[in-house]
Amino acid sequence: MSGHSTYQPKTGIERWLDARLPIVRLMHDSAVSYPVPRNLNYLWTFGGILMFMLVAQIITGIVLVMHYTPHATMAFNSVEHIMRDVNYGWLLRYLHSNGASMFFVAVYIHIFRGLYYGSYKAPREVLWILGVVIFLLMMATAFMGYVLPWGQMSFWGATVITNLFSALPVVGETIVTFLWGGYSVDNPTLNRFFSLHYLLPFMIFGVVILHVWALHHVGQNNPTGVEVKNVAKDTVPFTPYATIKDLFGMVCFMFVFAYFVFYQPNFMGHADNYIPANPAATPAHIVPEWYFLPFYAILRAIPDKLGGVIAMGGAIAILAFLPWIDTSKIKSMTYRPIARQFFWAFFVVCIALGYLGAMPAEGGYVIASQIFTVLYFGYFVALALIGIFERPRPLPASIADSVLGNLQGGSGARLGAATASAPNAKG
Ligand code: HEM
Repeated sequence: MSGHSTYQPKTGIERWLDARLPIVRLMHDSAVSYPVPRNLNYLWTFGGILMFMLVAQIITGIVLVMHYTPHATMAFNSVEHIMRDVNYGWLLRYLHSNGASMFFVAVYIHIFRGLYYGSYKAPREVLWILGVVIFLLMMATAFMGYVLPWGQMSFWGATVITNLFSALPVVGETIVTFLWGGYSVDNPTLNRFFSLHYLLPFMIFGVVILHVWALHHVGQNNPTGVEVKNVAKDTVPFTPYATIKDLFGMVCFMFVFAYFVFYQPNFMGHADNYIPANPAATPAHIVPEWYFLPFYAILRAIPDKLGGVIAMGGAIAILAFLPWIDTSKIKSMTYRPIARQFFWAFFVVCIALGYLGAMPAEGGYVIASQIFTVLYFGYFVALALIGIFERPRPLPASIADSVLGNLQGGSGARLGAATASAPNAKG
């Protein structure tokens, strides 16, 4: 898809710059003339929404830091100072804290879109793996950000999660002492988390550039999963088509974001974090932010600490191997009748794990978490097996054909050709 440049410098200055630093050409080729499949639906606006959210988090974060004090005795009060004394400080803080949640809403939609349409398959494996790296960095950033207000959940969340490293044989204790900067979660811990919380978003930014570069190199997938065959027929230029659609998607998303910021600013938070950190009083239930809950449930499902850490890490790491685990050559679940059922079952399993992560780790909840953890990993086993025997539905011959509805038009010859050319298709 990264074909020849169509940029034509018009003025003398443009020609001068283009001969020295073709930056306008780069922007034109990636955001104006870049061809996108003509059948993309609104789920493809989430990449743009994520970019907007990343920039919004960085900007609100930088301004918050102007008033925040990263010290164990002052952090809590400095956040209250932001909320009460700083002009529009409450807005900044609510934009940043709810922004983190909305960032995760968008990234989960983005990931599930990729899972449904098989966007992780060749030739998009590197694009997908870079996405998994971004996801990991996002989780690390959000976790360390939540520690900064130095409330009860900040302190105890940090204690529980950093303690997990102690399960690692031999090096565990050393790693924990290193993370803490001492022998308990204290001021040095807050300092290093603050430093890293500031650094990581810029690292995410760097990986996002690689992510989009990889995307522009191989081109976008689309709801049919059939690759672009004829650029003129199957694609439209990014501007105005995708730009306007992305903008509209962003505005709709902003309405939801604004609703939480202005009407339910603490809905996604935890009341205990309005109590200053107290190392002498453990909260009754230590719960992480909602976006960590499914992984937290997996962690607690395994009775053994090291086992839990391995299962939780494995639940994320396995995503990176998906391009090789899924044996079907058909990308889109639309044409995979059996895999599609499993996809929706997997979606429900993730929601159920999220619910269980918020419940106390006792009795039936633990047993349910164990069952759903097995089902979570079972999805990946299923994808490996289903691809071998599943009979996919007939694919459209091209993206243009799927848009023009030629399948329903009864184009038997085309249909036959399409299924014959689909490597795993038997139907
Ligand atoms: C800061 C976070 C992220 C940003 C800013 C971002 C940005 C983008 C953008 C702009 C696109 C193109 C538009 C679109 O397809 O929606 C895209 C596509 C894609 N992203 Fe991300 N992304 C992020 C995180 C992730 C994560 C966590 C994953 C997976 C684990 C992922 C996997 C993909 C894939 C597979 C595509 C290609 C989709 C297709 O063509 O069907 N991304 N991303």
